[in-house]
Amino acid sequence: MLEKDSLNKAFTYIEPGPVTLVTTREGRKNNICTISWMMAINYSAHCHIAVSTGPWNHTFQTLMGTRECCVCIPQADMAETVVGIGTVSGEEIDKFREFGLTPVKAEIVKAPLIEECIASLECRVIDYIEEHGLVILQCEQLWVDKAREFDPMLHANGDGTFRVDSSRVINLRDKMRMWVPEGSERF
Ligand SMILES: Cc1cc2nc3c(=O)[nH]c(=O)nc-3n(C[C@H](O)[C@H](O)[C@H](O)COP(=O)(O)O)c2cc1C
Repeated sequence: MLEKDSLNKAFTYIEPGPVTLVTTREGRKNNICTISWMMAINYSAHCHIAVSTGPWNHTFQTLMGTRECCVCIPQADMAETVVGIGTVSGEEIDKFREFGLTPVKAEIVKAPLIEECIASLECRVIDYIEEHGLVILQCEQLWVDKAREFDPMLHANGDGTFRVDSSRVINLRDKMRMWVPEGSERF
């Protein structure tokens, strides 16, 4: 079950570079889009996230129209679903139904959280850099499934293969103090 968690930790779900599922809602219709080109670009609680996308995706039209979305982090065993969602347009089908995922009402934005994901970040669009196809999001709320919190994430290699997070964590926090924001510790 997704529970609210400290916004200070939001960027720690983006920094490792997982493949994400971005949800949008247009009128009464929910959609999901697979996005792997995404990065955290600051450490603040309302962390900013750069997303590379454009008008070829139906999601982009909704994102620009509603100025909001949820960035959801699937666990590695959702790999086939993630690829399925990224190879069909929500203009034609209901991807929540087609891929058996559960939309959960968010609190701040109208786009839904995804129950099956490790975490979901409610986000607003704060900028669009057209020249480079970069949408800049600001995170407004973090939801985490405590039962799945440390499940392995999925990473795209870019050639149609994927990597699964290893469970080994190397803790160099003491040496990183100058960079690690207060309250961001997840591991
Ligand atoms: C593994 C994977 C990663 C993807 N990453 C991106 C991405 O970073 N940016 C993007 O615009 N599209 C990306 N896509 C493509 C979109 O997910 C795809 O065009 C999708 O069908 C768009 O759905 P929509 O039209 O319902 O928005 C990716 C697809 C896959 C399978």
